Amino acid sequence: MITRVVKQNENNIDSSVMAEAGRIIKDGGLVAFPTETVYGLGGDALNPESSKKIYAAKGRPSDNPLIVHIYRFEDLRRIVKNVPEKAQKIMDAFWPGPLTIVFEKTDEVPYETTGGLDTVAVRFPIHPTAMAFIEAAGGFVAAPSANLSGRPSPTLAEYVIEDMDSRIEMIIDGGDIPIGLESTIVDVTGEIPMILRPGFVTKEMLEEVVGEVSVDPTILDVNCTARPKAPGMRYRHYAPKADLMIVRGDEDRVADEIRRLLSAAKAEGKRTGVICTDETIGKFDADVVRSAGSRADMSSVGASLYRILREFDDENVEVAFSESFDGDGFCMAIMNRLVKAAGHRILEV
Ligand code: TXA
Ligand code: MG
Repeated sequence: MITRVVKQNENNIDSSVMAEAGRIIKDGGLVAFPTETVYGLGGDALNPESSKKIYAAKGRPSDNPLIVHIYRFEDLRRIVKNVPEKAQKIMDAFWPGPLTIVFEKTDEVPYETTGGLDTVAVRFPIHPTAMAFIEAAGGFVAAPSANLSGRPSPTLAEYVIEDMDSRIEMIIDGGDIPIGLESTIVDVTGEIPMILRPGFVTKEMLEEVVGEVSVDPTILDVNCTARPKAPGMRYRHYAPKADLMIVRGDEDRVADEIRRLLSAAKAEGKRTGVICTDETIGKFDADVVRSAGSRADMSSVGASLYRILREFDDENVEVAFSESFDGDGFCMAIMNRLVKAAGHRILEV
């Protein structure tokens, strides 16, 4: 299959490109598109054959459900059985935006899309290109992140091309992605809303709107062996080729320890990498040293994390060390992805 790559400026959307992309989806094909979180790999959410194609293109296990993307509120009722009061409050506050909500599904949503579950995860993105594309595609687009299973989610069209070239009909290149980590997922089917995957919309932000919110206990506890509620969170995602370790503790001690570990790795002839911050970048000497951004602006760290992990792969880094990003708010999402990329290896100093 030849994959067409089309550039698209979100401030000047080309309706003929959208019509063509929409046609591909309605015909059962696949199109990758930008959203505010990461690039998505879209297919018709109500067509079981399309969902099967998505799993095949990603090399993803088919028990891992897909998120259904909509572009307007009125379409929600067709795919979800009921909208609990707290869900309504959350939607009013955060949709459109980087937040996915899990509801009970209607019969219109095929089990192929939900991985056999009776619930469906719904997202209403705010990226103008995503909205125009979903509308052109008929209103219901199933889309996981547009990476091969096990690789970091793509934050640039180049990465989508790397993973999806010749596997799908079209890639809409919308340039840089602002957030860079996947949407927050919140389950509203129980009494207390539960975060299944942390993201840009934080626990604190949700609590301001609906009161108590819980977090799936498996998310940040490194030693937790219980099964996460979002099936996708069970797989080892975001795995770089390098052995990555997080070093956590006081800033100076962390820098000293990373320097010591780098010397040891170099003595073994390994290619080394470091993930640090603008504040500490001068402290390290490795083959590839990358600042994820400034500690004064955690959103910069979230936006560059996946790009750095891909760069380590491209540079054949074998052993890498990262500073830790502990704290409230968006840090929960950053650490969740980083801890997975590190295969849960954290050194406390
Ligand atoms: O930001 C995002 O959400 C991106 C963009 C493209 O919208 N999409 C994305 O999709 O990250 P994906 O497939 O990579 O991750 C979907 C996650 C998986 O962990 C999956 O298990 C979980 O959502 N999920 C989907 N449906 C679910 C459901 N009914 N109940 C619980 N978890 C669900
Ligand atoms: Mg994904």
